[in-house]
Amino acid sequence: MAFSETLITVLLALFALLTSVYYALESLVISLVPRKFRRKSVEGQVVLVTGGGSGIGRLICLKMAARGAKIVTWDVSTQGNEETKRLVLEAGGKCHVYTVDLCDRLAVYDAASKVKKEVGKVDILVNNAGIVTGKTFKDSPDELIKKTFDVNIMSHFWVEGYTGVKTTVVCPYYISTGMFEGVQSKLIPILKPEFVASEVVDGILMNCTIVILPSFCRILILLKHILPAKGGWRLYKACGGHLTMQDFRGRLKNDLKESETKDNLLNDRIIA
Ligand SMILES: NC(=O)c1ccc[n+]([C@@H]2O[C@H](COP(=O)([O-])OP(=O)(O)OC[C@H]3O[C@@H](n4cnc5c(N)ncnc54)[C@H](O)[C@@H]3O)[C@@H](O)[C@H]2O)c1
Repeated sequence: MAFSETLITVLLALFALLTSVYYALESLVISLVPRKFRRKSVEGQVVLVTGGGSGIGRLICLKMAARGAKIVTWDVSTQGNEETKRLVLEAGGKCHVYTVDLCDRLAVYDAASKVKKEVGKVDILVNNAGIVTGKTFKDSPDELIKKTFDVNIMSHFWVEGYTGVKTTVVCPYYISTGMFEGVQSKLIPILKPEFVASEVVDGILMNCTIVILPSFCRILILLKHILPAKGGWRLYKACGGHLTMQDFRGRLKNDLKESETKDNLLNDRIIA
């Protein structure tokens, strides 16, 4: 590369760094604006939630419905889907349910065309479905590893297919939905489903690029990249990070307690 070309690249990089200062200030100012002024409306929009038959997915369905959205839930569990539909209808919302195994690419395409015909174009897609093995890497059978990738990663490719879409990535710590039943956390409190669902919905409505929960965990991401690897590992162990999964049992009950879900509905009616 010629010297002049290198110089231009360096100058452009420096300019990009300077604009980052501007964007940081912009974010700071925006964060001072109350959330109620920053949320976009989803009234009448179609919101498709994968894994809407349980946990966070169900709560997202209820919260989006409380804001006037038409809900579509895709879940491998027909029973879970039906319960979500019942709760959404009971709260005065609209809900369409489809039993879909997200590992099955053709079933996803089929459900997508049914939704288009029966409900309309999807405005917001919440890729929420997920599974966890809870086993160490060496104890995980091949089938479980493959299934985890199929549900948690590959399904995103079958479900998406548009360009120019605004995306929100959500990175939560452990949540007490039952998925990670048995985990122990010494320092960071295990998150409440209601809090996570509210933050996810707000993140989507405010067009946030990334939602890290709890938000102070951003510091850990920074530390991971600046500490030497051995130092980071020591810190992780000192905080008990390596022990959190040792009593993992996974989901024992099939769902959130009904009383918990009713409380959430009540909250939704209040914020709506
Ligand atoms: N619970 C936690 O501690 C935690 C932490 C970090 C991330 N997450 C992620 O948050 C999301 C929601 O988790 P949750 O705690 O509500 O779990 P959950 O088990 O309550 O809900 C997951 C839903 O996904 C559905 N699902 C699973 N496999 C599917 C498939 N093949 N096709 C269609 N649906 C399928 C399940 O039936 C279930 O209704 C998941 O993606 C999970 O990985 C959870």
